[in-house]
Amino acid sequence: MGPEDLDQILKELPLPKDPKVLVGLDTSDDAGVYLLNDEVALVQTVDFFTPIVDDPFTFGEIAVANALSDVYAMGGTPLTGMNLVAFPIKTLPPSILKEILLGGLSKMKEAGVALVGGHSVEDPEIKYGLAVTGVIHPKKILTNANAKVGDKLVLTKPLGTGIVATALKGGIASEEAVQKIVESMVTLNRTASEWMITFGAHACTDITGFGFIGHALEMVLASQVGMVIQSKDIPIFPEALEYARLGLIPGGAHSNRQFFSCRVDIASDVSALLVDLLYDPQTSGGLLISLPANEAERLVETLRKEEDIDSKIVGEVVEEPQGKIQIF
Ligand code: CO
Ligand code: CO
Ligand code: CO
Repeated sequence: MGPEDLDQILKELPLPKDPKVLVGLDTSDDAGVYLLNDEVALVQTVDFFTPIVDDPFTFGEIAVANALSDVYAMGGTPLTGMNLVAFPIKTLPPSILKEILLGGLSKMKEAGVALVGGHSVEDPEIKYGLAVTGVIHPKKILTNANAKVGDKLVLTKPLGTGIVATALKGGIASEEAVQKIVESMVTLNRTASEWMITFGAHACTDITGFGFIGHALEMVLASQVGMVIQSKDIPIFPEALEYARLGLIPGGAHSNRQFFSCRVDIASDVSALLVDLLYDPQTSGGLLISLPANEAERLVETLRKEEDIDSKIVGEVVEEPQGKIQIF
């Protein structure tokens, strides 16, 4: 099932209008937002998936960092989490499950999030993730719908985790490459989120399963703008290019290309391997932040100095052609 099939099903749901739903299903945003009072709105999201690394503790950390990211992408503060667990308890030792949960818990502690419950089912395939509840001021919600013409776009993590994970499954990835993507995937988007608010971001989303292009397009469509991306400025894991050259492209990258390429114009001199990375589905990817040009430079500088985060300005928001991404 691809993103457009899901879109179609969601469109057909008879959703009642509710003025307290500040962000719902209609703009493909990162998390839902529900108004409680003039000062506080709830931010809610859920995510879970199968292991993408061998070490269970690390998998737990990645799954939680990934789930929390949707709250950070809205500019919210996550408060509580509930574990979602699928585990083959009859065939695998419970110690593996314990390690996964310990990894998840360690990330929740780092984020200041309280684990308040969860639900588990027996399943032939391990899956783990988190349902997250956070809060946000109702006037300070960062959706993907408010990118402004003239804004610069900042990306806070390199692309290529899907390709390197595919190489890992194929037994080809170097230890160094795996270490790099793991370090990136377990990194919370919290500090990047806090700084983007300080620098007056207009819009934000996090890069996950639909890849850089899919999530950038969600912002383009919701904001009714266009985007110009400078491919040479896109941060990447160099090993991902190497593995892409060997054809180690995850299936999700192909479906992303199939669904989104009609809205993407790519200059003829852009490397085909780099385009593979732009469609590569990410796990616990970085934030894509749209903000005024001078603030974008200050954000990148501050993230480097204060947080040791190597973010990059990767392009800008344009008026025309609306609903399209141009890649140079
Ligand atoms: Co998201
Ligand atoms: Co999500
Ligand atoms: Co239950």
